[in-house]
Amino acid sequence: MQTKYWQLDKEKINSKILQQAAKIIKNDGLVAFPTETVYGLGANGLSENAVEKIYLAKGRPSDNPLILHIDDVSWLDVLARQVPLSARKLIERFWPGPLTVVLKKGGNIPELVTAGLDTIAIRMPNHPIALKLIEFAGVPVAAPSANLSGRPSPTTSQAVQEDLDGRIDAVISAGSANIGLESTVVDCTGEIPEILRPGSITKEQLELVVGNVAKCYDLNVKVPRSPGMKYRHYAPIAPLYIINFEVTDDALLKFFNQLLQEKRQVGVLANSRLLSVLPDDIVGLGGWHLEDDLDYIASNLYGWLRMFDEAKVDVVIAQGVKKEGLGQAIMNRMEKAAGLKFLSSETDLLGFFT
Ligand code: TXA
Ligand code: MG
Repeated sequence: MQTKYWQLDKEKINSKILQQAAKIIKNDGLVAFPTETVYGLGANGLSENAVEKIYLAKGRPSDNPLILHIDDVSWLDVLARQVPLSARKLIERFWPGPLTVVLKKGGNIPELVTAGLDTIAIRMPNHPIALKLIEFAGVPVAAPSANLSGRPSPTTSQAVQEDLDGRIDAVISAGSANIGLESTVVDCTGEIPEILRPGSITKEQLELVVGNVAKCYDLNVKVPRSPGMKYRHYAPIAPLYIINFEVTDDALLKFFNQLLQEKRQVGVLANSRLLSVLPDDIVGLGGWHLEDDLDYIASNLYGWLRMFDEAKVDVVIAQGVKKEGLGQAIMNRMEKAAGLKFLSSETDLLGFFT
């Protein structure tokens, strides 16, 4: 299939083109579109046939449910059997925005959307193009991140093109997604709201609105509560290791020099202080100014991982950040990309080569 590309300006709504894109969705086609988190791959969320195409285009396992994107809260009572007070409060505070709520599922939603679960994930994105597209489509739009399953989520339309060109009907391009990490997913069906996937809306922010909130996204757990969290995800092709301890410049220099001596193509993610002491022959570099430049890291992380693939590095060494605030979501994605491989001491650094 020949994929159509539209370049739009986020600030100037082009109704004519968005009507055409909406028509594709109404006709069970697939349209990738920008949101404030990452680019999504949209289809009519009420059509089994359309939703099936999403799984095929992405190569996504069919037991991983989708998020329905809406432009108006009136959809809630159609899609959900019950909207508890906690969900109402969170929606009131954070929508439109990077928050997905999981609720008890209402009637008439294709089984494929929820992968057979009795709950449904819903979000209202904070992006004028996404909202207009959903409005014109006139249906809830099922939209996973617009990447091939297993690859880092796309934060630009170029990344969508790399993965899905020829596999979907159209791509609406409108610059970079500004947050860069997927929405915070919160299950509101129980006593206490539970975070199933950390995102840019943090536990602390949620707790200011609804009191106690639980974290349910430990990557070591065998059966995660959010089905998507069990898949190797967000991963660059080369193995990624996280350095999660304070290391002396001396030890680091030795480590990197040995990697280079062994003719490894090395990619590094680190703050600028650390980057400044590295040898010059590192192939791929992703860097941030200070350790606490978290917004910058979030919006660039997936781009850096894709850049490492393109540079064909054969190992990536990443410096961890503190798991505080947005650092929780950043480390969740980094740890998934690493498959929980850590370098936690100088002994680990030395042991790397044996
Ligand atoms: O920011 C986002 O949420 C982006 C943009 C495009 O909106 N979308 C996104 O969708 O990240 P996706 O499909 O890549 O991730 C959806 C996550 C998966 O981890 C999935 O398992 C989880 O939400 N999920 C969906 N429905 C669920 C449900 N009923 N119960 C628990 N987890 C659910
Ligand atoms: Mg995804």
